[in-house]
Amino acid sequence: MKKIVCENYSELCIAAADLFEAQLAKKPTSVFGLATGSTPIGLYEELSKRVNDGKMDFSNAKAFNLDEYYPINPTHPQSYKYFMDENLFNKVNFASTNIPNGETTNPSAECAEYDSAIKTAGGIDLQLLGIGVNGHIGFNEPDTTYSINTNLTKLTESTLEANSRFFDDPNEQPRTALTMGFGSIFAAKHILLLISGGNKAEVARKLFEGKIHTDVPASFLLLHPNVTLIIDKDANEN
Ligand code: F6R
Repeated sequence: MKKIVCENYSELCIAAADLFEAQLAKKPTSVFGLATGSTPIGLYEELSKRVNDGKMDFSNAKAFNLDEYYPINPTHPQSYKYFMDENLFNKVNFASTNIPNGETTNPSAECAEYDSAIKTAGGIDLQLLGIGVNGHIGFNEPDTTYSINTNLTKLTESTLEANSRFFDDPNEQPRTALTMGFGSIFAAKHILLLISGGNKAEVARKLFEGKIHTDVPASFLLLHPNVTLIIDKDANEN
């Protein structure tokens, strides 16, 4: 795992955008795996700015998002579809964008089709990841077993609590989600993990131990041959 430490969140976003820019320059038809949450918001702002300034052009690139709540209507302001449209897709000209369908009536068929669409697109070139305070990546929550393929999963109390800040009405917060599995994530040629903020320092410390913690899903990333971690000083506190 290659580690880049940034002074603060703004620097982290610039460093991450530089990697996106380099990937796109190398391969304009790149397939990007994308994440939601607070962490990538500044990166998406920076990418939108670079597209607006004519420095980047995603018109031959494709995007696949990691996950989506289930069930959720894509027009719900807390759906990941809505988040991506607002923060990136309405501003950046991807050839195609893909997010698991939070309204599907057949989750297992939806998940199988999602994995097959990623394969048909040629696999993910650069996969962006955030990390949960409990070490989850995508919505692969700490457990004793982990799914390989995209799957319907139950969210843990820790994740529900961390994300409850986004839902005014707790009854509207979905307790399950569709998420890419470890196989789908690990098939990416390059993984970019972003960690920002003091509340992530403890989970970051676990990664730096250089051991697989079976209850810290992100620690499995130590086995991937090409991971870049960009972390800010607050999260890198030891
Ligand atoms: C989002 C996702 C999650 C988040 C993680 C961190 O698509 O898959 O794993 O990356 O929950 O969220 P933030 O960035 O809000 O701390």
